[in-house]
Amino acid sequence: MLHRRLPGTDLDLSVIGMGCWTIGGQYWGPTDDTDSVAAVRAAVEHGISWFDTAPLYGNGHADTILARALGSHIHKVVVATKVGVRQDGVGPEGQDGHAHSDLRPAHILADCEQSLRRLKEPLDLLQVHWPCEWGTPLSESVGALERLRERGWIRHWGLCNYEAEDLRLARSLGPVASLQTPYSLLRGEFEAELRAVCLEGPVPLGVLAYEALCRGLLSGKYRQPPRFAEDDMRSWDERFEGEAFLHGNRLAQDLAAIGARLGVSASAVALGWVARQPAITAVIAGARTAAQVKENARAAALLDKEKVWEVVDKVRGL
Ligand SMILES: NC(=O)c1ccc[n+]([C@@H]2O[C@H](COP(=O)([O-])OP(=O)(O)OC[C@H]3O[C@@H](n4cnc5c(N)ncnc54)[C@H](OP(=O)(O)O)[C@@H]3O)[C@@H](O)[C@H]2O)c1
Repeated sequence: MLHRRLPGTDLDLSVIGMGCWTIGGQYWGPTDDTDSVAAVRAAVEHGISWFDTAPLYGNGHADTILARALGSHIHKVVVATKVGVRQDGVGPEGQDGHAHSDLRPAHILADCEQSLRRLKEPLDLLQVHWPCEWGTPLSESVGALERLRERGWIRHWGLCNYEAEDLRLARSLGPVASLQTPYSLLRGEFEAELRAVCLEGPVPLGVLAYEALCRGLLSGKYRQPPRFAEDDMRSWDERFEGEAFLHGNRLAQDLAAIGARLGVSASAVALGWVARQPAITAVIAGARTAAQVKENARAAALLDKEKVWEVVDKVRGL
């Protein structure tokens, strides 16, 4: 497994990390905790050295499964978690339990304290889950994150889902360690201004890419638009419908054909492509089974196959 240093930190990350949203057991249809524990253990076995989780993922359930699966091994891997989302809002259609971002210092402190209880670690990387919806000035949130670092509760802090302007402001206010952002063969908005901001300065900002498999669409496993369980958010994700599905699936089938010649799946090709892109430190691959994790980890061995990537770039341009 190839490792890369998160710039400006002491964190070495396998180029493929495991994302824990699915194993949280919410928004991805039914999950099985036994499969989830096996998936986490398979990740370690196949050289994956870091895990991305969040309080939001099953309201702490992903953390609980991660801690259970890793046991004392949790000290040997990097755990990246998140902060700043509350689940006590009212949704646009009046529903209770709506998730919304609260980045007031008091909430950052309380949220981090809960994560420490579940993960029982100084947290390697604490990432703001998404920008503030409550009007807290960024400087106040950055101050709170720095205080957590000074207390030794966290080792580094980063941001998720920030746009170029706010990211630049955050970088001027404190030592941001990373940006987590969506990026895939189907989703290239990172390539505009955001990537340029990450590359600014004497030390570039580490970038952790998510949704590199387009929630499973780029695995190439679908023959027709899938029908998901009602509690699986993909049942209302338009990328799994109509022309968007056909477009994504055509690309996935091309990746599957490229992968077949190398003895790997479309998933490994899709993940490998993202891992090779300028500014990307590592890719987060979500998974629900040990078999998926094993397949995803194989992406790391493809990165130096220049001819393969020329073909993938051509296929992406179609
Ligand atoms: N910071 C943020 O706001 C944010 C947002 C989203 C995600 N993330 C992070 O990124 C991680 C990845 O999630 P994502 O939404 O980006 O999804 P993704 O990685 O694009 O897709 C993950 C899903 O694809 C399917 N899959 C994975 N490997 C496969 C394989 N080898 N073969 C076939 N199917 C496979 C699995 O679902 P099925 O088996 O059900 O098909 C899996 O749950 C999350 O777990 C989370 O850690 C962060």
